[in-house]
Amino acid sequence: MSLTTNEQRAESDLDLFSGDAVTDPYAALDDLRDLSAAVRMTQQDFWLLSRYADVRAAAADWQTFSSAQGVALTAQSNQNLKGSVLTSDPPEHDVLRAVLSEKLAPRGLSKVRGKIRADADALVEALVGRGSFDAVDDLATVFPVHVVADLVGLPVEGREKLHPGADASFAAFGPFSPYVQERMADLVSYQQWMGAMCDRSKLVPGGWGEVIMDAVDDGRISQLGAVKALSAYMTAGMDTTVNAISALVRLFAEQPEVWSALQADPALAGPVFEEVLRLESPVQGFWRVTTRDVEVGGTTIPAGDQVMLHWGAANRDPRHYPDPAVFDLHRNPLDHLAFGYGVHGCAGQGLARMEVVELLGSLLRHVERFSLAGEVVRRDNPIVRSLAAVPVTVEPKG
Ligand code: HEM
Repeated sequence: MSLTTNEQRAESDLDLFSGDAVTDPYAALDDLRDLSAAVRMTQQDFWLLSRYADVRAAAADWQTFSSAQGVALTAQSNQNLKGSVLTSDPPEHDVLRAVLSEKLAPRGLSKVRGKIRADADALVEALVGRGSFDAVDDLATVFPVHVVADLVGLPVEGREKLHPGADASFAAFGPFSPYVQERMADLVSYQQWMGAMCDRSKLVPGGWGEVIMDAVDDGRISQLGAVKALSAYMTAGMDTTVNAISALVRLFAEQPEVWSALQADPALAGPVFEEVLRLESPVQGFWRVTTRDVEVGGTTIPAGDQVMLHWGAANRDPRHYPDPAVFDLHRNPLDHLAFGYGVHGCAGQGLARMEVVELLGSLLRHVERFSLAGEVVRRDNPIVRSLAAVPVTVEPKG
């Protein structure tokens, strides 16, 4: 990688979406963050914002850093995403976001807490009974897929398409890399299934899917808008939570003192989750397009340029978090940017927190200790910080 500064701008020719930069991006991101507030990434022609204060300010300023021209890197992906909640600005954005806002608000979520707890208990009991399992394939992938698909009201048949499809969809926010090319079949089959599910006869009554179809019937969104809405919520609710849960179990197996602290004080479940989100930032970043010339830390970004808001880099900015690479049980970083910020701040963060706190509660009821039973394997998704395998053995609670 070469880093250069001149009077006009700082530049880097690093490809953030391949090789070592995907496996372990943080040393490179530290250099880029120190180089300048805004760095021109010349391989793919976008600006990178990596400092906490700048990323947060840009996310708050949707008028200047617009989502309406797309939040993915490539024109093809932005065309596919057009008309979704993610890729719109107010006021259109607010209409789309309102469709499921009651279901995802605290009152709506409180109605599903009991079911989520029972589902967590059933899954954890079965896995603990086995003694060893893969925390990615057997736990982290199964639980959010089951919870979100039930909430939407999707049939059981076909759900196996959801996690591979969401993984590929997230990767497609970045460049058209080999990772995306190898997963095109998953992506297409997932999108086709989402399209087919936008039909009342396929959906279980009372779920989010039915609420989306009500919005079609009363003219708030189009039939195509329904497919975009269903895909946006399904995709956003999969790989994100899957990877946060995988990272948590890995942490408990690698740092047993964290699990012991949680056993001694279960109220730490929330703070532990927030700190893992800060450290891992499952969604590493999304793009915006500038609507005017804008200055960021002394660099002028011209109107019409793509700018990546790097949540992962911002969450490890030493200007904001002391010792940012260290897991700190007591940091409780509620201001982290792993859920984004501003009008597009994660619509499902209440649900994600509920899923994880209920799952941790269930693990606390059933597991005395976790140990690694093999090698942790990383999945090289260029956008989602991902694990492919976390084999563990568990000692059940006596
Ligand atoms: C740990 C889990 C999660 C993480 C880390 C996460 C992360 C994010 C981030 C970073 C954004 C901001 C995108 C942007 O600014 O362009 C976002 C938006 C969004 N998330 Fe999440 N998410 C998680 C779970 C969920 C869940 C469970 C759902 C719903 C089932 C969900 C639904 C959404 C939706 C619909 C948006 C778009 C909101 C908008 O554009 O107004 N997310 N999420």
